[in-house]
Amino acid sequence: MLTLGIETSCDETSVSVTEEKKVLSNIVSSSVRLHKRYGGVVPEIASRSHVEYILEVFKTALKESHRSLKDIKLIAVTNGPGLVGALLTGISLGKSLSYCLKVPLIGVNHVLAHLYSAFLNEDETLSFPFVGLVVSGGHTALFLCGKNYRQKLLGQTLDDASGEAFDKVARILRLGYPGGPVIERRARLAKEKDSVKFPKTFLGKGSLDFSFSGIKTAVLYYVRDRVVSTSYIVHSTSYEMGSAEKPLINDICYAFQENVFNTLIEKTFLAARIHRVKNIVVGGGVAANTRLREKFGEASGFSGNVKVYFPKKEYCMDNAAMVGVLGEELYKRGKRSGLYLSAEPNLEVVNVK
Ligand code: KG4
Ligand code: ZN
Repeated sequence: MLTLGIETSCDETSVSVTEEKKVLSNIVSSSVRLHKRYGGVVPEIASRSHVEYILEVFKTALKESHRSLKDIKLIAVTNGPGLVGALLTGISLGKSLSYCLKVPLIGVNHVLAHLYSAFLNEDETLSFPFVGLVVSGGHTALFLCGKNYRQKLLGQTLDDASGEAFDKVARILRLGYPGGPVIERRARLAKEKDSVKFPKTFLGKGSLDFSFSGIKTAVLYYVRDRVVSTSYIVHSTSYEMGSAEKPLINDICYAFQENVFNTLIEKTFLAARIHRVKNIVVGGGVAANTRLREKFGEASGFSGNVKVYFPKKEYCMDNAAMVGVLGEELYKRGKRSGLYLSAEPNLEVVNVK
């Protein structure tokens, strides 16, 4: 079954052609460079950019798949959560194609597409049940996933998402947007790894919820109290910083990143223990981070019997292939949408028993 996937929930315009879990094409055009100067995604700019590029991305995806439009048997499109104007572009393309080609249309939850994106590796050894962690710019949540794509929310962030914390801390440190990749790079350059320490956020024994606003504020106060004196904040108006501050900024990045990742790992393994599950799956933009992958690998080694799966890096960031593959699986299990499908900016994950 050939599925056309469409993703436009934030700043990536993406169209894919997939067959079962095989990716024939997955074209991603990002408007991230247009948002850099604002320090975050500007919804109106993202929406316009989707309108401008979606047809070209669609044509390229079809061409690279070496299949023709008449071979497409299902259209899967992200219908939430996300920016309403951005979602509408993808949904409009999906509806038009569904109507013209007379093929079914299915709406896919973006968070679930991240959650199940490790299946795109066609890794036969990954099987249900597993504990799934989604770490992206908009979400941080833990799920218990049972067979036939049934999931239950176990915990989620009470304030900032983990990716959002990376973006905000990068902003405090004047490192630019998006924060994740640059903080990862700077953390790797840290020389005095244990020179900076931030407090851990506790939410009560056994809690599987997260909170990242505390660590973000701790970084802000640390910079205000220790780095301002070196004139960094006062005089640095561009994203370039003086050489005197560079080593300290690297150490701050390291301490921040370790702090966030330790919490993610502790809670995910706790969830696996509570629910006696042997598999952990991690998805979303933050899952592209090599240090996070290393640390989960180490924790898996210590645990002895829990295996951790990550999607390939190209499937961590927003992409249509994860939407197409999940859409097809849900369609096969009876899920249907129709031409009445609407954009749902606050679409939630429904627990499925
Ligand atoms: O999944 P995604 O592409 O979009 C959302 O659904 O939000 O995730 C984007 C987020 C951004 O916050 C970005 O800073 C973060 O993922 N990110 C990373 C890395 N690459 C992207 N965070 C940490 N380390 C990275 N290497
Ligand atoms: Zn995403």
